[in-house]
Amino acid sequence: MAPRKIIIDTDPGQDDAVAILLALASPEDVDVLGITAVAGNVPLELTAKNARIVCELAGKTDVPVFAGCDRPLGRDLVTAEHVHGKTGLDGPSLSDPQMPLQEQHAVDFIIETVRAHDTGTITLCPLGPLTNVATAFQRAPDIVEKVQQIVLMGGAYFEVGNITPTAEFNIYVDPEAADIVFKSDVDIVVMPLDVTHKALVTKPRNDAFRALGTPVGVAVAEMTDFFERFDKEKYGSAGAPLHDPCVTAYLIRPDLFTGRHVNVEVETSSDLTMGMTVADWWRVTGRPANAMFMGDVDADGFFGLLTERLARL
Ligand code: RIB
Ligand code: CA
Repeated sequence: MAPRKIIIDTDPGQDDAVAILLALASPEDVDVLGITAVAGNVPLELTAKNARIVCELAGKTDVPVFAGCDRPLGRDLVTAEHVHGKTGLDGPSLSDPQMPLQEQHAVDFIIETVRAHDTGTITLCPLGPLTNVATAFQRAPDIVEKVQQIVLMGGAYFEVGNITPTAEFNIYVDPEAADIVFKSDVDIVVMPLDVTHKALVTKPRNDAFRALGTPVGVAVAEMTDFFERFDKEKYGSAGAPLHDPCVTAYLIRPDLFTGRHVNVEVETSSDLTMGMTVADWWRVTGRPANAMFMGDVDADGFFGLLTERLARL
């Protein structure tokens, strides 16, 4: 089967970096048409720089990287240096990128790419706040029905929030954008904290990355060593949760994940629960299902796939 054509929309972020590496290591499964940076974990200038650093780490400097929106649709930007460090890629020491940033705005790239391909052939993979995707949908409503699928990391139900008591970071940063995406009627697959908190980089798994002995393997081990502090301290986790790589792993091995097709709506009014994803997991509202909301992952299968693919770079 031909590889899926995808656009990765991202706010690197160590876990974004691993997700991008997994995609770039899997050309038989995914064809990365471009990487679009959005403000999120760190400001846009850094996410656009970090996306290029990751492409160079993978030796894939032919993948075009675009800068997108530098702030959410309707509120001030909230960043997460407390999790990812001030560079957004703290952990390994990686050189500044040599590859250029594309001139074109990321939103225009998303619109142009979807318009230029047949309906149902482009998958959008948002790994950060949904500002770029929502802006593209607002600016070019004609592309919405052309998108094959959106596979995104964001939200939470049983796990509730990681940035507030009720909201997951990607959705919390731009709840209005998330509301637009979840109401778009596009076929959506969601990787919420409910599943990503089960994809933990335990020490044996981190050791397996390091044992690859390659610049990629060592960098991923160092990134996850740094990135795990927040979750270990807050949740007592056994390691860093690899949130965003669940998105690219799903594209390669969807059988690793299980979930339910349910209604998901986003809180955009209450300050108390702003950005909460209200997933009707028990189907009590009668509201139409609009998302495949994942709840579980075969963690050993996930890490086996990830380690095997990273070894290729
Ligand atoms: O809440 C986790 C998400 O927020 C991940 O995508 C991480 O990279 C941050 O963007
Ligand atoms: Ca991210």
